[in-house]
This record gives sequence, C-alpha cells and structure tokens, in this order.
Amino acid sequence: MRTDSSPLTIYRKDYTPPAFLVDTVELGFDLDPNRTIVANRITMQRNPAGTHTDIVLHGEEIELVQLRLNGKVLEAGEYQIDGVLLTIKDAPEHVVLEIETLCAPVENTTLSGLYVSNGNFFTQCEAEGFRRITYFPDRPDVMARYTVMLRADKAMYPVLLSNGNLVEEGDLGDGRHYAKWEDPFKKPSYLFALVAARLVCQEETYTLNSGRDVLLQVWVEDGNLDKTDYAMQSLKNSIRWDEERFGLELDLDRFMIVAVGDFNMGAMENKGLNIFNTKFVLANPRVATDIDYAGIEAVVGHEYFHNWTGNRVTCRDWFQLSLKEGLTVFRDQEFSADMIGSDSGRAVTRIDQVRTLRQAQFPEDAGPMSHPVRPDSFVEINNFYTVTVYEKGAEVVRMYQTLVGRDGFRKGMDLYFERHDGQAVTCDDFRAAMADANGRDLRQFERWYSQAGTPVVTARTRYDAVKRNFDIILSQRSNHPDQLPFHIPVAVGLLGEDGRDLPLTLDGGTHEKGATTVVLELTEHEQIFRFRNIDERPTPSILRDFSAPVILEYDYTDDELLHLFRHDSDPVNRWEAGQRLAMARLLKLTAQVASKHDKPLKLDTTFLDAQRALLIDESLDPAFRELALILPSEGIIAEQMDVVDPHAIHTARQFMRRTIGTELRAELLAQYHANQTPGEYSPDALSAGKRALKNLCLSYLLVAPDAVTQSLAQHQCEQAGNMTDRFAALVALIHSGLDASAFLQRFYDDFAGEALVIDKWFAMQAATPTTDVAAVRKLMAHPAFTLKNPNRARSLLFNFTNANPSQFHAADGSAYAFWAEHVIKLDAINPQVAARFARSMDRWRRYAPALQAKMKAALEQVAAQTKLSNDVLEVITKALA
Ligand code: PHE
Ligand code: ZN
Repeated sequence: MRTDSSPLTIYRKDYTPPAFLVDTVELGFDLDPNRTIVANRITMQRNPAGTHTDIVLHGEEIELVQLRLNGKVLEAGEYQIDGVLLTIKDAPEHVVLEIETLCAPVENTTLSGLYVSNGNFFTQCEAEGFRRITYFPDRPDVMARYTVMLRADKAMYPVLLSNGNLVEEGDLGDGRHYAKWEDPFKKPSYLFALVAARLVCQEETYTLNSGRDVLLQVWVEDGNLDKTDYAMQSLKNSIRWDEERFGLELDLDRFMIVAVGDFNMGAMENKGLNIFNTKFVLANPRVATDIDYAGIEAVVGHEYFHNWTGNRVTCRDWFQLSLKEGLTVFRDQEFSADMIGSDSGRAVTRIDQVRTLRQAQFPEDAGPMSHPVRPDSFVEINNFYTVTVYEKGAEVVRMYQTLVGRDGFRKGMDLYFERHDGQAVTCDDFRAAMADANGRDLRQFERWYSQAGTPVVTARTRYDAVKRNFDIILSQRSNHPDQLPFHIPVAVGLLGEDGRDLPLTLDGGTHEKGATTVVLELTEHEQIFRFRNIDERPTPSILRDFSAPVILEYDYTDDELLHLFRHDSDPVNRWEAGQRLAMARLLKLTAQVASKHDKPLKLDTTFLDAQRALLIDESLDPAFRELALILPSEGIIAEQMDVVDPHAIHTARQFMRRTIGTELRAELLAQYHANQTPGEYSPDALSAGKRALKNLCLSYLLVAPDAVTQSLAQHQCEQAGNMTDRFAALVALIHSGLDASAFLQRFYDDFAGEALVIDKWFAMQAATPTTDVAAVRKLMAHPAFTLKNPNRARSLLFNFTNANPSQFHAADGSAYAFWAEHVIKLDAINPQVAARFARSMDRWRRYAPALQAKMKAALEQVAAQTKLSNDVLEVITKALA
C-alpha cells in the first residue's frame, strides 16, 4: 500500500473568490504536433472581493519559456511554481501578463488540453484542461473575453476554428496560414476551444424567430458528409425549441459542431464551437441504430442548450457542476419528449429515464462513490461527471417543475437569466430564482443538493367505507441516520374497480376540481393525506410519472399490480406495475436457483397471461409495449439482493426469458410480423418503436430457437435495410447459442471502414453471456482493437465488465485480474477513461464472500501501484475505504 503523497481533497467550504479578474485574453498558437508554441497575453485587475493580492495561475504538463509582467521579464524567484500552481506575490492593481509556453500535442494521450486525433488538432478544456495549454487562472468564476490567432501548415490543417466569429484569415507564406477568431462573450477558460484540421462541413443559413440569420456548420472528416444530416436537423430543432419553450435565442452569428473520433465523453459545449464524439454526430440508416439517432438528437440538443445554461450563466466552482448539467439534461430530456409530441411518446422517454436512474444512479448513490448532487469535496473533479450530478440533478430540476408547474418553472428560468446573465453562480442561486419567481418557500428543497443517497418512501393506505375516506400515509427514511427529511413531490392517482381514474378531492388540496392526479408534498417524516368522497376501495397509483427520484415501498398484492398493469392511465406506473410483477418472480427464481434444489423452475400463468395481453394490445404504442415486456436487467435485480449471486440471477432471468419465448411463441411471431417497417428508413419515434418491439420479439424467440425463428433471424441479418434491424438480428443470433460466426465475420467485413460500427461489433460480443475473459483477450488481440481510443476501449472492456455480469464474476476471479491489469494499462494512457473503468468494481462488497475476497485482492493490486493518477487513486481508495 502507498503511504506517501496521498492526493489532495478539495472542499466546497474552502471556496474563496479569485484575487484577480481577467478582462481580456489574447492567445497565439503556432501549431505543431511535436512542439506547439502558445503565446498568451492576459489583462487583469484586482478583484475588489478578493482576499489577497497574489496572482495564482494554473499550469500542467507545459513548459514555461517566458513570463512578463507589465512588460518586464520575471526572473526565477519573482514567481513560484509549486505543482500546478504558479504564484506571483503582491501583484499591482492592474496587470498585463505575457506568457510563452510549449507543449507536445501528439504526445498527449489523455485527450485533455490540446491533442492530436487522426492527424488533426483538437482541444478539450472542461474541467481543468485549459491549464494544459497555457498558464491561467483556470477556474470557472474567472470569465474573460478571448481573441485567438491560429497559425498552422495550410496543406495539413486547412481548417482553423475557434470560438466566436472569424475576423481575419490569410496566408503567411512558407506554406502556413492563419485565422483570427474573436468571441464577443466573456467566458470561463473551460469553454475555450480550437480545431486545426483537414475537415469538410455541411453548412446552412438558418433564420431565427427574430429574423436574424445565423450560419450553422457540422464539420467531419472527408467521407462522412453522408452522415451529417441528422445532426444538422437536430441542431435546427434545438434552436427552435429553445426559442419557443424558454424564449432563449442563439446569441452568435455562427454555430459550429465538430466531430472527433478520440474523445473522453459525449460532447462539449465550447462557446460557438461544440466538439463532439463522432458517436453523437455521424448517422445514416446503414451505420446507425434508432438508439444512435435518439442519442444524437439528445446530445446535439444538450450541448446547444448549454449555450444559455452553462455558458451565458456558468458555475461559480466545480461543486456547482449540476447547476449546468442537471438543468441541461432536464432541458434535453424535455426537448426529446417534445420532439415526439404525443403523451404516450413522452411517457416512453420518461420510462427510459427511470431505467437509467435505477440501473446506474441508485447503485452509485448506494456505493463508495456516493455524493450529493452538489458534492462537498473531491479529489479529482473529472470523477464527478456522474449519473448523480447529471441524471439525479435533472430529476431535482424536474421536481421544481412538478412543484411550481410548467409556467412557474418558466418564470423561474426567466428570473434566473434576468439576475445572472454573464455571471458564475451557484445551485442556491437557481433555487432562489425558482422560489422568488413563484412566491414559494423552497428552503427545505435545498436538501436535495446537500444530502446523498436515495430516499425510501413508504406508503400505507386505509379505506373507510362509511365515511368514504381513503387515506394515504406516506413516510420517508434514508440510510444515512443523520439526514433531515426531503421535500418530495409524490404524484398520486386512484383507480376504481373498472380501471378508470377516480376524480380526486384531497383534504386541504388546491388542485382543480375533478383532477385525477394530484401532487402530494411530503415534507415530514410521516404525513397523512386524506381523499374524500371515495365510493369504493381504490387501487392507488403512487409516484406517477416518477415524480421524485426515490424508492417507493408499498405492499401491493399481485391483483393490484395486475390491475395497474392493465389499466393505469399513467404509463410510467403502468410499466412500473409490470416491473414489480416481474421482479417478484425474478427474485423468487433467483433464490431457488441459488438454493440448488432440484425442483424445476416454474413461471405462473397469471404473469404470462398479463404479458401476453399487453403484447397483443394494439391500442398501445409499440414502444411502450416493448418497454413493458423487457425484464428488469441483471444489474437491477442485483440491487434488490442482500448478497448478490450473479450466476443465479442470470440463470433465473434466462429461464424467465426462455419461458416467455416459448409460451408466447405464437403472439411473439405475430407481433414480429405485424411491426415490420417496410419502405425507406425513418428514425421517427413510431417507426423506431415498431422496430424495437419487433426486435424484442425476435430476441425472445431466439432464446430457444427453432428452424423457423432461426431462419427469421438469419434472414433479417442478411436482408436488413438498416443498422437497427441488422444489429438486433445479429445480437439475437449470437445470444441464441447457434453458431453465428459467419454472420459476425460478414458484419465485420461489411463495415471494416466504419469505426463506430466496429465499436458495435466489439460491444455486442463483449456483452454476450458466452464471452468469457479468454474470449475478451482474444478480441483484444484483433488488429482493430486499441486501448488508446476511448470508444473502442469502452466497447470491449466496459461492456464486458458492466453488461456481462455472469462472466465478469466468473468464480475463479480471472475477470477481476483482467480488470486490474487493464485499469493499470489504461491509466498510463488516459486517467479519465481508466477511472471510469475502475468503477466497475464499485459494488464489490455486495457479493458472496468468495467473490468479494477476489474482488478485494484485485482492488488492492491496483492500489499497490506506485504511479497511479489521482483519478484512479480516488476511485480505488474510496472503494477500499
Ligand atoms: N460538459 C460536457 C457535457 O455535459 C461533458 C464533458 C465534460 C465533456 C468533461 C468533456 C469533458 O455536455
Ligand atoms: Zn452537459
């Protein structure tokens, strides 16, 4: 174990305002992959709110050539460098700093700062990458105006881009050229970007609602121009949507999206120059699935919406990350839902959000990396771009809207911009705007930002037939004993015997007369809510639309759940009833498998009949039916168990899938045929829903294939006119146990030049239950595999550890050793990617003792390394703590 240099923890409570504020930044780049020269001229002045008079700059992995203050070269001794900090003591009131540094982009494998991808230059500065480009007060509360001069070889890098407007360009002789960019808006350093590359673009002039014309561009490598239409369309939809829903207009004359193949995350909202992982730009029917299309729409929207929520109003410090991320995820969720339009379509997007929370956020919040939406401390900020900050943060924002209504939410947003445009602010400032605009007391709501963990809400009910009262008693608890009660909106409806919603009269309620859903506000440990004039014992539908990110406990009987599954007008709770029915059975079967009794496993006909009825109910959206028929994932089942037995879970779930596949064979086949989408491919929600249902049917049919179903899958694999269908058929085949090697090979050969499709090829094999660690090692030896490209590493390694639990948890521990080996290997290349991979082990304490011991040994093996990054060190230390 290491005892030396434990990394520094940074605390929110230690925040102090910057001593100096920056007015302008002029950057000059002489771009060269091996030796780029960066000249940086900063004008700054003392911050009246500062607590000292030292200039503090950050710098990392850059070589300082010269430093001048107000024209005078500073000698060693006139400034101090300590780690990443450069300090100039007792600086004058007004300062011009001129800083010259060197860096080597081609050697930068971290993909943070200035780096080279496929021969082109890109930058990534969030969170703390700008300091890898030049010395600067690299903190988000320092906002400045930037001018950027780029110089580079013209033949190699014909395109030179940066934030804002192009103000000048020309030749320099000697084969080099230049471009000068000016960003009219002040911004924090993390929003700086440049691109110097050989790229081509699709461009369009777009007219805003106000009548102003803007230039939109999507930049990609030559050969990919046939894959930019959907990103461009999504961008235009985003611009329109933000105007209409929030009255927010694009503030620039030019907006650019650039795709890059090597990228740590999904995309980045740099002012006017969004840089995207190719995965969230490139699509055509041949190479992209419906899920890819939906991802592009969401991420293009997300980055565009950041222009107001993140860029115009930014974060005071990184503890406030959810101020921009939670809010912007909520906005992109609403955008995607509005793009579908229909209520049932909205519900499908909502169900997807609930699944993500349960699959990823609840476990995170119950594990070693649990943190509040607004963390109190961190070692490495890169480790806090989490599902908690993003997805739970979006739930917190959604709850404001649930509490104050859509119009009230809009008023709160308007006030937020009125107060804070051009500022770097906090989550408290956002909450204050929501409260003040609506005249509401939202003080207790603050606990959603400060208290970690998933609250458990328990409901009890009682019916008084004489008085015709129905009471719902709600209580809340958390697994942190010292926590105070949350302010929880619980949307409730009551179903009558005929399945219809009862009109509600809540004692003390302020809802409209005749409302069928009301929002109960649970603010205490326990509260009683009384409904009047209820003529029959109703079935309660609690937490409609998943109105709060909590775990709801209620002792539903099977009959009540079946009633909700058949009739609930709230699609989220209708789906939820099905999940509860399935989960009860999955847990029982898992226990039976684990107990190793020889009794054959059985699945009751009540459940099968309910599934059948839903499958063939053509009054329901295919997309909804698909979601309602997917069983809870192995990961979600694991979260319900005290001691996780991944093999028993897998066996039980497979048994259930096989039983559904065989018992419902006729209906599955019929729906398979009924939901074909002939004609030209379109990614719209209805067509995508049909494909999803059809392909789910196929996957059930292929759990126990016969000659008919086998040939259906093979035929679809060969004849599919789009990637969604081809991919689904191939996955069904490789999961069926049939020999699918020829189809896999054919897939590879057909798409050898399409990196994103080759990622899919690795990913689907990694997640196949028959792929053991030896098979993964073999795939790693494939010439197309590399650890250096994050998408490729994720497709094989992350999918194996996260989506193939029965192999990752192989009894001999061989996959844990594999994990340790590759955390270490990845860390030497890219700490951010390594730290994410490291988190596959987060839940190790929940497994049976024999597995736990092996997991612990693997964690300790990583911890024993002497050269770990802070990123990985933080994750491993917390896991072992
Ligand atoms: N801010 C980006 C987003 O949410 C995510 C990101 C973080 C990208 C850090 C790169 C690095 O859109
Ligand atoms: Zn974001």
